[in-house]
Amino acid sequence: MSNETNAAQPVNTASNAGVTARAASGPAGAAPSSAGRHPAPPCTLVIFGAGGDLTKRLLMPALYNLSTDGLLDSGMKIIGVNHGERETAEWRDDLKKSLQQFAADKASTFHTTQFDEDAWDWVAQRLQYVAGEFESDDTFSNLKQLISAAAGSNVIFYLAVTSRFFKPIVEHLGRAGLLKEDDGGFRRLVIEKPFGTDLASARDLNAHILGYAKESQVYRIDHFLGKDTVQSILAVRFANAIFEPIWRREYIDHLQITAAETIGVEGRGKFYEQTGAFRDMLPNHLFQLLGMVAMEPPNSFDAEAVRDKKADIFDAIQPLHARDVVLGQYEKGPAGPGYREEPDVAADSHTETYAAARVFVENWRWAGVPFYLRTGKRLASRRTEIAVHLKTVPFRLFRDTPVDTLTPNVLTLRIDPAHGTRFDFNVKVPGPAMQIGPVQSAFDYADFFAERANVGYETLLYDCMLGDATLFQRADGIETSWAAVEDVLHPQNGPLPVAGYPAGSAGPAQSDALLARDGRAWRPLAPDDAASDANTAAQKK
Ligand code: BG6
Repeated sequence: MSNETNAAQPVNTASNAGVTARAASGPAGAAPSSAGRHPAPPCTLVIFGAGGDLTKRLLMPALYNLSTDGLLDSGMKIIGVNHGERETAEWRDDLKKSLQQFAADKASTFHTTQFDEDAWDWVAQRLQYVAGEFESDDTFSNLKQLISAAAGSNVIFYLAVTSRFFKPIVEHLGRAGLLKEDDGGFRRLVIEKPFGTDLASARDLNAHILGYAKESQVYRIDHFLGKDTVQSILAVRFANAIFEPIWRREYIDHLQITAAETIGVEGRGKFYEQTGAFRDMLPNHLFQLLGMVAMEPPNSFDAEAVRDKKADIFDAIQPLHARDVVLGQYEKGPAGPGYREEPDVAADSHTETYAAARVFVENWRWAGVPFYLRTGKRLASRRTEIAVHLKTVPFRLFRDTPVDTLTPNVLTLRIDPAHGTRFDFNVKVPGPAMQIGPVQSAFDYADFFAERANVGYETLLYDCMLGDATLFQRADGIETSWAAVEDVLHPQNGPLPVAGYPAGSAGPAQSDALLARDGRAWRPLAPDDAASDANTAAQKK
């Protein structure tokens, strides 16, 4: 989220929505420039895990998109490190094939009707493959030579590897002197999730990393923050006069933060068995959404100003207790077989694929307002959203009319797959009698703005090159988040129960009970727009 002028370009007509401008290559091999932003400084991007899924699915598509937008410097170099001997040409060819497949796949975020060979060539020319074990000194001495031979001394080390390699790679980089910023250039470390598995392991990982690098060199990724719709939460809140006055306990009844998925564990059984839905999503992605929606206005978009305000929220989250958490596991249902039948999953597994929690943020603005969080695999629909439920108005005025219910207003910030907002409010039903009907007003990004090619990593990579850490997590934020869920991860009274739910349903009944006990209900998880949110705890007079 760079501070530069980056005004959105509204589209004038519906017919040009969805069009992404692709300019021809600029001078000196620089990628063409994108309105309002300039190319990042030259740097060498070293990707550990060059053969992995993340590199193929997200990093390369993001680099391709950045190159088409003219946001990469012509002096850029990309070094891919992986175990396994292979030639650079072979790596390039494999990547190109994957990119072409994603481009042709309508379900992919990289889908495009026109794969731009020039844009790919621009990236491909800068790729170099280096074979090496992540724990061997030779790999790092080899890298050191390559880096000193590369143009410029700015280097980003991207750890696109499984988490067990985080510590050894950082240690080797540190010992090889590769994290020293003594020649005027920057050295940055990008670390993917999972950042620890609980408070102790996160503290240990932070301490280890900070033994070799300064906090300002570390860019901890939560890919939810790379989503435009998540970044827009701050814009909606702070660029409009209408929301902020009511964005507080006096007017808001509760919030629902949902990240529901229809997919299962997609061949990640081994990882998932160790992790579960709660660790995988809650103290990271869902807390990040909570942070964006609950934080106080920062004084600027400066990284520390924003991260300080978010850290205040994580700090104010009350420790979660077992009674406020529901875990579930999908069983055979309309959407297919149960979790226990997935590859690499134990036949008697108790790993949760669903987690819901009631969270309180005890500060002046939010005291007493519940934030209900839920996430799960193989649910009835794919939906990531934040629904802000306002309090109901006094009913008194309507007591002598046929109206017997007033539906509370709900503002929904829609993150995926719908991109936009929706506001549910009440109007008079036409006719002689005073009757109230709930209606919706919806805004969809595609109706106003040209769709930009975006796999979600473009801004994160670009910001890291610029040195803007706003969208990355700081050590303290990670640790306070883990601290808030410590009692759930290490419960005093034995493991939390895991309730079954049919694959393709809205989750376990116990999750409904979590809200019912407060007189509230989850928003339905029916496919988009079919959802009549008029269910939302209509208040009786
Ligand atoms: C990842 C989790 O971090 O986020 C996955 O490990 C999950 O289990 C994914 O599916 C969800 O991200 P998105 O962007 O698809 O909503």
